[in-house]
Amino acid sequence: MAVIPVRWNGSRADDSRPKGSNAYQIVTGDDSEDDRRRWDTLYSTRTYVFGKEPAAFLRDNIGQLSVGKALDLAMGEGRNAVYLAKKGFSVDGVDISEVALQKARRLASENKVSITAINADLSAYTIRPETYQLIVNIDYLQRSLIPQIRRGLKRGGIVVFETYTVEHLKNANGQHMRRDYLLERGELRRFFRDYEILVYRETNDGKEARASLIARKP
Ligand SMILES: C[S@@+](CC[C@H](N)C(=O)[O-])C[C@H]1O[C@@H](n2cnc3c(N)ncnc32)[C@H](O)[C@@H]1O
Repeated sequence: MAVIPVRWNGSRADDSRPKGSNAYQIVTGDDSEDDRRRWDTLYSTRTYVFGKEPAAFLRDNIGQLSVGKALDLAMGEGRNAVYLAKKGFSVDGVDISEVALQKARRLASENKVSITAINADLSAYTIRPETYQLIVNIDYLQRSLIPQIRRGLKRGGIVVFETYTVEHLKNANGQHMRRDYLLERGELRRFFRDYEILVYRETNDGKEARASLIARKP
């Protein structure tokens, strides 16, 4: 695994990261230990690097999701997992950074909910088949996980997936990113083309370019 440090300019309305703080883009690479160390270093601060509020896409679409067992992939500091737990989901969250998981556990306890925080490298992780009503993947791209996400969902289960696209290369924030770490146009939809697509969009507001999908397993 490899990680690219980028300068964060505080452009996301749903994010409480301080302006000018450093952040890391979500990439896949080949050196897991290096990746783990870098993420641990990034997260070794009292503030929540990605904020305590859920991703706007998840929050805005929560009404479409039925409560059940959920998996948050690359959970980070737990903003999305804790939000789901507060909504009644039973949440497993996986992340390579133990520092992030400690913050996620703390956020859960601040909110008087519990989550199961699993420290694992997703490139060597097996999602238990037909287990989850909901799988969330926000701001993380590991293409090899797609078949596992599909298998991990129960029939009728829902995937919520949002991450950066190649359009982001045009933005000041994204110029340093490697293209293969970004979704190609239409790629996310193709991953789940046989699912019932409930929401799909690709956006670029000039600062952030993402593809966002909610789809139901047939
Ligand atoms: C940009 S953060 C997104 C965190 C969270 N999804 C959110 O929306 O706040 C990307 C996360 O991917 C995690 N990560 C990177 N490589 C990983 C790997 N190989 N296995 C598991 N987690 C990984 C990092 O530790 C980091 O928490």
